[in-house]
Amino acid sequence: MEASGVFSNYGPLNTELETAFVDQLFDGTGACMTVCNATIGLMLAIHHVAAKPRGTRRYALMPSFTFAATAHATIWAGLTPLLCDIATDSWTPSAESEEELLAKYAGEIVVVVPYATFGNSIDLDRYERLSVERGIPVVVDAAASLGSRDIDGRQFGTGAENPVVFSMHATKTFATAEAGLVYSKDERIIRTLRQMSNFGFDDRIAVMPGLNGKLSEVGALLGLAKLEGFERIVDHRAELANAYRTALPDFPTQTLRGAPAFQFMPMLFPEDVAHRRKDVQAALRDRGIGSAAYFSPHLAEHPYFREVCEVGPLPNTAHISSRVISLPMSDQMTTDEVFEVCDRIRSELDRTAS
Ligand SMILES: Cc1ncc(COP(=O)(O)O)c(C=O)c1O
Repeated sequence: MEASGVFSNYGPLNTELETAFVDQLFDGTGACMTVCNATIGLMLAIHHVAAKPRGTRRYALMPSFTFAATAHATIWAGLTPLLCDIATDSWTPSAESEEELLAKYAGEIVVVVPYATFGNSIDLDRYERLSVERGIPVVVDAAASLGSRDIDGRQFGTGAENPVVFSMHATKTFATAEAGLVYSKDERIIRTLRQMSNFGFDDRIAVMPGLNGKLSEVGALLGLAKLEGFERIVDHRAELANAYRTALPDFPTQTLRGAPAFQFMPMLFPEDVAHRRKDVQAALRDRGIGSAAYFSPHLAEHPYFREVCEVGPLPNTAHISSRVISLPMSDQMTTDEVFEVCDRIRSELDRTAS
């Protein structure tokens, strides 16, 4: 970097990283562009496919069981999030709930933003059909899916026409610091988004909406370093997930489509002890063990989103969200450490049961 004097603006390291992603993860098909984080990637893609003159009410259909960034990105594009339910088994957006809201708000939904929950793959063919047949664009929030394999064994998103947005945030399986990636089979979409991400410039003249969404060369270097040995990281985390399932067989997990790249271990408390979640988290914390409860609250429970979103019926979301816990995982963690976490959970639950 010092030698070339190039520190950003789609420099040689960034180009190397984008090329490596397409070649190594996406089977050499399609195109991708880095962004400084996935939230900006979502904002660019959603603005590109759905932003129209203001005035009429326009909705972005998305699950309530997702991270705040999905909703924020659509609000920045001038849209109103319309929150749908999830399926009880996969925890991904429920097709029935989406269909119900597509019918109820016919003509008012300008983009669908499904979330591939915790790296679990969703049926992208169904979304491609939906966007072609109904003329409603789709932008896929795949924040946790770098390294996730779909049922055909390929990186989730490979060959998708609709933009698919991944995160490389420090908390993700493909952890760097702050970074994201937008992929599409359609190189023209990526070319346009790249321009938008560089102030909407064509030869330093603004010709379209823009912002600064570029990844620095330092960020690209972190990505290149992570890509080396990434498959081993994904495999190791799959082993940790198996250990969690073995140690907590009464804690339901997502029904998987393909093989996700586990960021953490999402599990549900058995119904009769779900009200003990906070106590269990405190007991873990006492031993220096971090945990979280993604997504509790879910979007419709956040004060800001409750005020600005339109909310459909969410019975499954409410049920899953009230029982969910995100148990720790890292590249260095061992299966013995997983068993230690699970023992601690078990002893806290047993302590109060007796
Ligand atoms: C579902 C979802 N969407 C979007 C994002 C935003 O990613 P980033 O932190 O790279 O902006 C996240 C980040 O955790 C996420 O979980």
